[in-house]
Amino acid sequence: MVNTSVTLCGLQLDNPIIPASGTFGYGAEFAELYDINILGTFSFKGTTKEPRFGNPTPRIAECREGMLNSVGLQNPGVDEVCDTILPRMKKYFNKPVMANIGGFSIDEYVYCCEKASQAENVGLVELNISCPNVHGGGMSFGTSPESAARVTEAVRRICKKPLFVKLSPNVTDIAAIARACEDAGADGVSLINTLMGMRIDIRRRTPVLANKKGGFSGAAVFPVALRMVYDVYEAVKIPVIGMGGVTTVDDVIEMMMAGARAVEIGSANLTDPFVCKKIIEALPGRMEELGITSLADIVGAAH
Ligand code: SIN
Repeated sequence: MVNTSVTLCGLQLDNPIIPASGTFGYGAEFAELYDINILGTFSFKGTTKEPRFGNPTPRIAECREGMLNSVGLQNPGVDEVCDTILPRMKKYFNKPVMANIGGFSIDEYVYCCEKASQAENVGLVELNISCPNVHGGGMSFGTSPESAARVTEAVRRICKKPLFVKLSPNVTDIAAIARACEDAGADGVSLINTLMGMRIDIRRRTPVLANKKGGFSGAAVFPVALRMVYDVYEAVKIPVIGMGGVTTVDDVIEMMMAGARAVEIGSANLTDPFVCKKIIEALPGRMEELGITSLADIVGAAH
């Protein structure tokens, strides 16, 4: 009997599989397809203080082995999430959820993280300082060690649950930013968010996305994400959650050997809504084939 459980800052997950923010909503639609209580947990849609409609359309572009999005943090606002959606979520998800929080100022991050982290069914907070699709917030906090540290420190003071900071790959040295977050009090880091990219419609001679540029994700980014998880694992002592292009059970195992204690799965949910279920079901058999008795033992095994 193999052991798929992992622990993140004292929170035990039945397995390391976590649908990534922005690809799973608040879970309700997926709960109609399968029992989502089989997941380790999931990270809900990036939530801000005010409700947001998001960016103009088109805001999705298909690419070879991936996709671009410029959604722009569409969400119903933290008050609606905490007062209505989280209580309702208890009916279809009985585990602690990960609250992904976006923002445009340190005050906004503080407000949202304080409120969300007080919710009974929030087990972890994921501070999104890496959204590439908004101006004056998001990624602008996550591209220098100093600003990443400032927002982490402010949020850590008020956050009632373990705080993971979600890092941007659109930087020269992601390890330096992870270290700054750790020094500022982060309990963990998650990486990578999307890589900035664009597509052009060659008939119209215009960018495909209304916002011109967007975040690239999907299978094509996996080796980049893996390398960054590997580098960050060596740079910090806090737990690392790995994500970026994960689509198969072997990708999960590879991510964990690079240093991830848990693994988020993003774009793959959009092409196959059952992908997380399939990976969870495949894990024990694949572990047996590879001689792995406990998944926790392979974290960082490739170092
Ligand atoms: C978005 O809503 O634009 C995506 C969120 C993100 O990339 O962090």
